[in-house]
Amino acid sequence: MAYVEDPGPGYGSVAPRAAFGSDAPALSLTGAWRFRLSPSLAAAPPDVADPDFDDSGWDELPVPSLWQLHGHGRPAYTNVHYPFPVDPPHVPSENPTGDHRLRFDLPAAWPAGSALLRFDGIDSCGRIWLNGTELGVTKGSRLPAEFEVGPLLRPDGNVLVVRVHQWSAGSYLEDQDMWWLSGIFRAVTLLARPAGGIGDYWLHADYDHTTGLGTVRVETGPDVLLDIPSLGVAGHPAGEPLDLPVEPWSAETPRLYDGTLSTVAERVPVRIGFRTVTIEDGQLKVNGRRLLLRGVNRHEHDPRTGRAVSRETALADVLLMKRHHVNAVRTSHYPPDPAFLELCDEYGLWVIDECDLETHGFGPLGWDRNPSSEPMWMDAYLDRMRRTVERDKNRPSVILWSLGNESHTGDNLARMADWVRERDPGRPVHYEGDHDCSYVDVHSRMYATPSEVERIGLGEDDDQRRRVLPFILCEYAHAMGNGPGGLLEYRELFERYPNCQGGFVWEWIDHGLAAPGHFAYGGDFGETIHDGNFVIDGLLFPDRTPSPGLTEFAKIIEPVRIDPGPDGIRVANHYDFVDTGHLTFTWVLEDEGIAVAQGVLDVPVVHSGQSVSVPLPSWPPTRGESWLTVSASLSSGTSWAPAGHVVGWGQLPVSPAPARPAPVVRGPVFRTTGRLILGAGEFDAVTGTLTTLGDHPVRGPRLDVWRATTDNDRGSSPGPSEASQWRAAGLHRMQHRVIEVDADGDELLVRTRVAPPAQPFGLFADYTWTAFDGGLQLRVDVTPDGEFPGTLPRLGLTMAVPGTFGSAEWFGGGPGEAYPDSRQAVRIGRFSSSVDGLQTPYVYPQENGNRTDVRWARLTNPAGTGIRVDGDPAFDFTARRWTAAALETARHTDELESGSLVHVTLDAAQHGLGTAACGPGVLPAYRLVPRKTSFTLLFRPVASGVAN
Ligand code: GAL
Repeated sequence: MAYVEDPGPGYGSVAPRAAFGSDAPALSLTGAWRFRLSPSLAAAPPDVADPDFDDSGWDELPVPSLWQLHGHGRPAYTNVHYPFPVDPPHVPSENPTGDHRLRFDLPAAWPAGSALLRFDGIDSCGRIWLNGTELGVTKGSRLPAEFEVGPLLRPDGNVLVVRVHQWSAGSYLEDQDMWWLSGIFRAVTLLARPAGGIGDYWLHADYDHTTGLGTVRVETGPDVLLDIPSLGVAGHPAGEPLDLPVEPWSAETPRLYDGTLSTVAERVPVRIGFRTVTIEDGQLKVNGRRLLLRGVNRHEHDPRTGRAVSRETALADVLLMKRHHVNAVRTSHYPPDPAFLELCDEYGLWVIDECDLETHGFGPLGWDRNPSSEPMWMDAYLDRMRRTVERDKNRPSVILWSLGNESHTGDNLARMADWVRERDPGRPVHYEGDHDCSYVDVHSRMYATPSEVERIGLGEDDDQRRRVLPFILCEYAHAMGNGPGGLLEYRELFERYPNCQGGFVWEWIDHGLAAPGHFAYGGDFGETIHDGNFVIDGLLFPDRTPSPGLTEFAKIIEPVRIDPGPDGIRVANHYDFVDTGHLTFTWVLEDEGIAVAQGVLDVPVVHSGQSVSVPLPSWPPTRGESWLTVSASLSSGTSWAPAGHVVGWGQLPVSPAPARPAPVVRGPVFRTTGRLILGAGEFDAVTGTLTTLGDHPVRGPRLDVWRATTDNDRGSSPGPSEASQWRAAGLHRMQHRVIEVDADGDELLVRTRVAPPAQPFGLFADYTWTAFDGGLQLRVDVTPDGEFPGTLPRLGLTMAVPGTFGSAEWFGGGPGEAYPDSRQAVRIGRFSSSVDGLQTPYVYPQENGNRTDVRWARLTNPAGTGIRVDGDPAFDFTARRWTAAALETARHTDELESGSLVHVTLDAAQHGLGTAACGPGVLPAYRLVPRKTSFTLLFRPVASGVAN
């Protein structure tokens, strides 16, 4: 057990070196292995390393994999807390121990001599034997370890045994906010190492933007030659610097030159990207240009395989990022599978490569005994950093090294930084936890409010040292559930202050695990301590479907911005490097959402950071409300998107809706037994609520202020959340008192007071119904009564229509959902969807699907009849097959059951989303404070076959 609880790194492995392939023979050892899980080391077979041990009765397990996702043990999720007693470096005796065994033969031509057995990732501690001989122990789950095995190999019948412990001293350093999962979860490879081959190399490829020259210099062994055919370099002694005119590498122009390093014994393909990272004038620059990091934090996650992520999945992430204009990734909070970084080089993403380190669980204990400042952990800290840098040093995409995450501060971190600076002066050091920036090169914060960022931008930071450093938000805009709201305000700050260089949204993907009918989160596996759905906080749903949050983020960070301009249309280039020469600009004119004219817009080439104004095209007259939509799209396909992919768009209003003719009053109100009849509507005579519209039974509409609270409404910071204040005020259980139903004239006036039990405050709601040709007009006047505390979730009406009304069509904001502080991605158009399709399937059910700025909406049944609602001028709506209360109660998507009705909200206002799940709440401009409000809607039955 000693090695498991030893706070030092493992033993037996060779010195860390770069990850690379070569023409030397390699044998992948991935595939089906034999596997047995024991509840503890004591219960594990003592003679498992014996090559003759009989494992025929064992299960099979794929390698790579995490055993809890294959029916052995169960996943567990905690954010901050260690799921075991904090007694460093000790771990529980009940330490699940997974023995993995593989028999393998060498390929026929396998050479004699040195060979390395490489493990790219074992969580959390692996002891390894080959043919009965112990090779050593590895810790540092997301880091490689290689062992010399040449003398032990046999042509046939090799027996490789890996004993993996779920917990080890290393677990204290791996308290990242993610699932606790164990196993050999990355590749295992046997690599022949020819004598006279290339053991390691570091290819430095700098770029001088003032001369256009690249300098290539390779640190490696003796007698290595460099070839770069496309640059005419042949047989150049690798160690000698070489200046060459080159195209630089950037995330926007990921120009890689293919080359080889060779000795007589081995050839190594290399991909060279020329770039130079500097900090100048308090700004982080590459090739002399300031960067604006439009980034995301990426954990490695697949809903079926957890942190065992294939190259295809890594590629899917890269393509989704590129297509959504993301230009940077922080590899939170460990080095990713090496394939991901190769893809970042190839497709173009700036990377903060983070070491596998987090000791957050000491935080709640006041950081007492935190490993970052305890000498016994020093070697482990340095070992982890060394393995990170050595593995990834050849990746041009990596522009910053990060020491880790949430590990407070201490000497061990400072020593890591010293080591990095010495080893790689070409990349600045990042670590958010060094608050006074005594050993880092960039000032980094997480979840700072816009006003804090502004202070830093203005140079008003209290700390002298911090004031002269580039500033980034290594985490912001927590994408948990419905949100994040408030992205626009951050973008404005990043653009206003040169030292504020962007940030990384937390986080890329929800870590939901596939379960029958839904995705699972913390607590779904019977964990005793867990953090619930806090692991569901990504821009992608677990199956990699983009969430509305990603669509919004993409719109906020689009590299080309199109707005109304002084002479017509303003086109602004927000790329950091490239001009707009690769784009085609097109326009389409829509008359009430129907395209009536389109064309190509002649836009001169706009350079990075510049803008132009171009005249409007000419178009035919339109009759209804009309909008011009201008899009910038790729003229030809790239490696990451086809031609036509839109990288920026904007809308210009062309003509407003024609004035609506005043409704011809078709009163008076008729009374029949218990009912009131006004035009197309029938009302309950006692409550004054609409019960029938045309031939359709309806319920309501009536005033409603509740929404199924979002993760952001519920918040996570100390102090009462918005949701708890709403609940304490009783806004979820308002009662409706009818004060008066006045049906004596041409109009039906229903006066009510809507108020929570036990409270003195409320809202007067007056409904004034008027009939007009074919429909009803409703004016709602809302007046707060008494001292109303805080905000309202929403303000509007709720009504129910028959469940057969399963199709929606609307003219207004779409196609996706939007809220006051998350509405940049919607445009004005005509959209249609099934009611089911209007739902956003947040893994943890909550308010969703709000369509905003809606001029009119129709809900119809398969026969085409239904109802139409018009705004005056616009309203927000949702339509769902369950109530807000049912949505609030459900804990997983498959708990939402369709009833016999479609529940519709028709709103005058919504409270914003904010990001209080972790970070600032709703900004003042987007808070819904109760005030006197009037709004008008028109209701009409829709007959089959009638347009609109
Ligand atoms: C940060 C942490 C992340 C994640 C996030 C909340 O403090 O660095 O790993 O836990 O909060 O989702």
